[in-house]
Amino acid sequence: MNTYEKLQSCLAAVRAKTNFVPSAALVLGSGLGDFADTQVKTAASIAYDEIAGFPVSTVSGHRGQFVFGYIGDVPVVVMQGRVHYYEGYPMPDVVLPIRLMGLLGAKTILLTNAAGGINYTFNVGDFMLISDHIGSFIPSPLIGENIDALGTRFPDMSDIYSGELRARIRNAAANLGTPLREGVYAQLTGPQFETPGEIRMLRALGADAVGMSTACEAIAARHMGMRVCGISCISNLACGLSPVPLTHDEVKETADRVAPLFKKLVSASISLM
Ligand code: HPA
Repeated sequence: MNTYEKLQSCLAAVRAKTNFVPSAALVLGSGLGDFADTQVKTAASIAYDEIAGFPVSTVSGHRGQFVFGYIGDVPVVVMQGRVHYYEGYPMPDVVLPIRLMGLLGAKTILLTNAAGGINYTFNVGDFMLISDHIGSFIPSPLIGENIDALGTRFPDMSDIYSGELRARIRNAAANLGTPLREGVYAQLTGPQFETPGEIRMLRALGADAVGMSTACEAIAARHMGMRVCGISCISNLACGLSPVPLTHDEVKETADRVAPLFKKLVSASISLM
C-alpha cells in the first residue's frame, strides 16, 4: 500500500466511526495529554490502535487517540499523543495523522510541544510562539513520489507559521495576561538530547528552541494547504545551559507544572481561529 492508499484506508476507518467534521486540528505535546478531558466538549473519540495501519506512539506520557468535539464554538479534532521520527516510523507514517486530520476537514492546525530553550533570554516554563523553523536536520516528510491530490511537488514555505494565526495567538495570550516569547524552532531527530556543540551550532543558525517533533508536521500540513501555527513550552534549558544533565523527567515535570496555563492559552487561541 502506498502512502496515499494508506491515508485513504485510515480515512475510511475513521469515517466508519464518526461523521464529525473539524475545522481546526490540535496536536497535544508533553504535559497537555489530558487537555481534552477538561477543555473539549467531546463528541467522539477513536483510539489510534482502532485504525488499521495507523502509527502508535511508544513514548511515556503520550496517550494515543483522536478526540472530536468543540472548543468554544470551534469544531476540533485533537491528537492526544503524537508519533516521533525517532520511534522508528518512516517520515510518511510520522505525518500520516496530520494529513488525515486535513482530509477529515481541518483547515487550520495548532501544533504544541515541549522544547529546550536555546535563546539566552528564555526561562524554563516560558511559552514560545513558533515564528519559523529549521527542519534541515531531518528528512523531509515530502520525500518520495508527490501526492498531487494533497499538494504541489515544490510547496512554498515562506509563511509556514501563518502570520495571521500568530497575531491571533498573541491576542489570546495578551487577553490572558500570559507572557509569550516568539522564536525559531529547530527539529533534530533525537532521541538523544543534543550535545553542547550542537546547541551552539543551532544558536549560530538562528534557532531559539529545539525539539524532536513539530517541523515535519508543519511541513506536511502546509503542503496540503492547511494554515499552521505552533506553540512550544520551554520545558528545560538546552544542553550546556544548565548545570544538570537533561532528562525526560525534567521535560515532563515542567510541562505538567505549566500545563494549566498552557491549556488556557491553547483553548483561547483555538477559540479565536
Ligand atoms: N532537546 C530536544 N528536544 C526536547 C528538549 C531538548 O532540550 N526538551 C524537550 N524536547
